[in-house]
Amino acid sequence: MPGLMTMMALAPSPLSVKRCFSSKETPGTTMLLLTKRSSSSAHLLRRSWARGAATATATTAIRDEQELMQRLDEDGWVDRHLLPLLTPAEEAWQPADLLPSFSASADEQRSQVAELQARAAAVPDDLLVCLVGNMITEEGLPTYMSMGNRVAGASDATGCDGHAWARWLRGWTAEENRHGDLLNRYLYLCGRVDMRQVERTVHHLLRRGMRAIPRPSSPYHSLIYGAFQERATFVSHARTAGRASRHGDACLAKICGVIAADERRHEAGYTKASARAFETDPDGMVRALAAVMRAKVTMPGELMTDGRDERLFDHFSAVAQRSGVYTAADYGDMVEHFVRRWKVAELGADLSGEGRRAQDYVCGLPRKVRRMEELAHDRAAKMEAQSVSFSWVFDRPVRIR
Ligand SMILES: [Fe+2]
Ligand SMILES: [Fe+2]
Repeated sequence: MPGLMTMMALAPSPLSVKRCFSSKETPGTTMLLLTKRSSSSAHLLRRSWARGAATATATTAIRDEQELMQRLDEDGWVDRHLLPLLTPAEEAWQPADLLPSFSASADEQRSQVAELQARAAAVPDDLLVCLVGNMITEEGLPTYMSMGNRVAGASDATGCDGHAWARWLRGWTAEENRHGDLLNRYLYLCGRVDMRQVERTVHHLLRRGMRAIPRPSSPYHSLIYGAFQERATFVSHARTAGRASRHGDACLAKICGVIAADERRHEAGYTKASARAFETDPDGMVRALAAVMRAKVTMPGELMTDGRDERLFDHFSAVAQRSGVYTAADYGDMVEHFVRRWKVAELGADLSGEGRRAQDYVCGLPRKVRRMEELAHDRAAKMEAQSVSFSWVFDRPVRIR
């Protein structure tokens, strides 16, 4: 793409050709136009060179990152440190373990579903909205697996590659797949949500995809993004479990609890792999961390819509913020946690100038995020209460502030 944009910038536009050859300006004016034109061409050439240099630098960086990923696979690091974090299929929980059993008698089935619905009746709408938003995000899994397959040095080229990164990606996908299935089935059985609207939102999200990290093929960007995402989903599912328990829905609390525990293991995997990359290439990793932070870590469900509300994700996020399921303060805490965990402030003298600037930016970020969060909180406190109708809960209004 940058190459194409450079070519377009250098090509004279039809307008500039007409001005140069058909106007009746005096020689002096023509000279002025030519001078302007050549100065503008020089500027474009400089821009083109700068873009070419940036592309070449990015390509070299990706090649170095790819080599590190291949080394971690070949020397057995992924086998020793990441793959044991995944649960073997025979030992893993399955959605059927946490939902009414259909191997029981018809009466028993009916009584288990009735019990699930009786408990779910006490779950407030704001928590249901958080649950639906989380479930829809989990159901975007095909997009996330395809993102994982774009990572240089870690992709599963055949669909059944034997290298360790491919086994990690497939094992991670198999664990994630249960999350959407389990939440989807609970929501269907509980009878509290408009499943057609929920399913339509999943359909839209899969068609729209996700806004990727700045460089989707970069292993560093992907590992960092993975660590943030898994921690954010852990927080969100764990808080939903806590609130479900307080509202008396032990079944939902257990469901969100087991999912949160999976996210915790996944977070440990991406955090460990990032830490290993920090040890090997601190300069590259701190620059990658700053780039991912500058682009903002957006949730993978950001592009969701139900076909009616184009700001559905913003509204869902506002409900999550207000109900304490996932807040801006959590984001500040996460940045602080990873800066500490990856010892970013302690990175030493071997950092480049750019690396040092990235280190300063990242280390100062938690304070900035907290300050912004305080200002947003103060602003929200002065605003009037507002509710939004969510099609997911049959258009019932839910407070967003
Ligand atoms: Fe998940
Ligand atoms: Fe996960």
